[in-house]
This record gives sequence, C-alpha cells and structure tokens, in this order.
Amino acid sequence: MVAVHVLNGPNLNLLGTREPATYGAVTLAGVEERLSRKAEAAGVALTFRQTNSEGELVSFVQEAGLGGAGIIINAGAYTHTSVALRDAIKGVDALAIEVHISNVHAREDFRHHSYMAPVCVGVICGFGVASYELAFDAIVPLMEKRARTAA
Ligand code: DQA
Repeated sequence: MVAVHVLNGPNLNLLGTREPATYGAVTLAGVEERLSRKAEAAGVALTFRQTNSEGELVSFVQEAGLGGAGIIINAGAYTHTSVALRDAIKGVDALAIEVHISNVHAREDFRHHSYMAPVCVGVICGFGVASYELAFDAIVPLMEKRARTAA
C-alpha cells in the first residue's frame, strides 16, 4: 500500500486564523479532513503531522523517507532557511513534493528561494489549501511507479 506523509512546519497550526487574506479560512484540521477523504478513496495510507520545531520536522522527514512513504511538505518559513531539511530529504532519498498555500513568488524576495526545491520532485504553490490536494494527486502515481520499479 502506498503511504504518504503530509508534513507541516511552523505556524501552520494557526491556519484558519493566521493572516486569512494570505492563507484563507480553512484550518489545518480541515486540510487533514480533505486529504483523509482523498486518501481513503485512493487506498493510500495517510499520516498528517505538524510541528513548530525544525529538528522535529527533520525527524518527521527521516521517519517518512526511511519507511518508504512519499512526502508532501509545507515547511513554512523553514523552506527559506533550512539546509537541514534539504539534507534530510536528500539523505533518506525521499520522494517529496514541496507545497505552499500562497504564491511565494508573488511575495517578499526572501520567500523566492527554497533550500528544499532542488531535492523535491516538484513544487506546488499558490492554490490555497488546494495546493495540498494537487500535491496528493501528483504524488500517488509517482509512489506507485516507484513501488513497481522497486519490485
Ligand atoms: C507558506 C509560505 C512561507 O513563506 C511562509 O513562511 C509560511 C507559509 C505557505 O504555505 O504559503 O509559513 O509555506
């Protein structure tokens, strides 16, 4: 069975009340509910996590990658600062998709650079919380392909 871990970084626990003009009104629990429905329909084992701590996010990445799960990661501000996260994705050879709710390229310059993007298969940003669902639709066939190749 394909497994996907959806990993959320700092301040994403505030989704729904944090800067709603930028991030919308859906809560993180709402995102989890939408993805759980999709995962159930697709027969995918879904793990959904959030942490405000960089080290814990690194551990989540390692755990997912070493367990053979695909990763959908919204690392929040750590996207733009964390070499450790980039090294974790690369270090466990994880198949990862970077997501952002907002279009980071239409925002401040410091949000235009991602340390993780070069070690991810792709980046989805700017579609609101639908970015997570688009990433889910993208990662499932990639994980199925990876499983077939490994068999
Ligand atoms: C974000 C964009 C980041 O720049 C920001 O620090 C966040 C959220 C997004 O989902 O749009 O915390 O990752």
